[in-house]
Amino acid sequence: MILSIETSCDDTSMAVTDIKKLKLLLNCKKTQEAFHSPHGGVVPELASRLHLDALCQQLEMVKPFFVQLKAIAVTTNPGLSITLLEGLNCAKALCVALKLPLIEVNHLKGHIYSLFIEKKARMPLTVLLISGGHTMLLEVQNFTDIHIVVTSYDDSFGESFDKVAKMLGLGYPGGPIVERLATHGDKNRFNFPVPLQNSGKIEFSYSGLKSAIRVQIETLKKQSGLKEQDKKDLCACFQKVAIRHLTLKCKQYFNKQLGANKVLKSHFAIVGGASANMKVREAFEKLGEDFGFSMSYASLPFCSDNAAMIGRAAVEQFRLGKFASLHKSTVATKAIF
Ligand code: KG4
Ligand code: ZN
Repeated sequence: MILSIETSCDDTSMAVTDIKKLKLLLNCKKTQEAFHSPHGGVVPELASRLHLDALCQQLEMVKPFFVQLKAIAVTTNPGLSITLLEGLNCAKALCVALKLPLIEVNHLKGHIYSLFIEKKARMPLTVLLISGGHTMLLEVQNFTDIHIVVTSYDDSFGESFDKVAKMLGLGYPGGPIVERLATHGDKNRFNFPVPLQNSGKIEFSYSGLKSAIRVQIETLKKQSGLKEQDKKDLCACFQKVAIRHLTLKCKQYFNKQLGANKVLKSHFAIVGGASANMKVREAFEKLGEDFGFSMSYASLPFCSDNAAMIGRAAVEQFRLGKFASLHKSTVATKAIF
């Protein structure tokens, strides 16, 4: 079995995965959302201290598995350095105490492998990764051959939901709150421009849309104050345009990928915290119908950060014999593939 640890942002999680059966045996997770919500975003110092506390509690839960462990896996990149360090230090201590090898896991590979916690692995795969830290289109041949097609050059998809929620004073994380309010809003009231609508370039950008929302909020405040219905309408209009940008850029990519036989070469999947958004799923189901591809997602508990996905990715590394040196292992804020 592998014990995996995830502390890259504001969720503390530990999981135990059976290597041979690829079976998740235990997944504990403690989210810190309530602590960060009053600040409208994650406060790294606070997150780090909360991880320290939660890791101790979770160690008690995974203790019964200690005798059966073959390795300790931990997220080492990308993420907040001071929270990653909490997980890494805990993992190193366990490696020393239990005389086990260390496996360093890339958090983004973890999100990709969240697809295979409950289902059989399927590759090659085109993956749209939408989280708080990233918006990426990836071509995944196998565990070690991952090509980044495009990434966002400013804010990420999830981050833009967080920032809109903050501007509207709705709390953190913004994604689920904005999605919920949007269901009661008029998505046609405001006409925000779809980012890079007239550009053939396949790239993501969300800061322009965020600024347009800010201007609209200021205008409403000056006119007659920001009312509850205004917030709902803003959420609905923002969400519609944010998703339209995603589908537009993916559509351009699919059109490029379509060969002479007009068939997409690989299976398509959406992963990351924001893949829990039902409007995103609906929009891509529709795109799938147009392009004739079927789609995969992780089940909802495995969309947002968790150690089960880190454990699943770690199994691949265990099989490849990719272990890290305890002395050299460190964390990185950028992704290392
Ligand atoms: O993958 P994740 O848990 O953490 C990172 O790796 O960043 O993703 C968290 C992000 C947050 O920005 C959150 O607002 C967003 O995912 N998110 C959503 C939804 N649920 C979570 N964004 C849009 N709609 C949602 N339903
Ligand atoms: Zn994540």
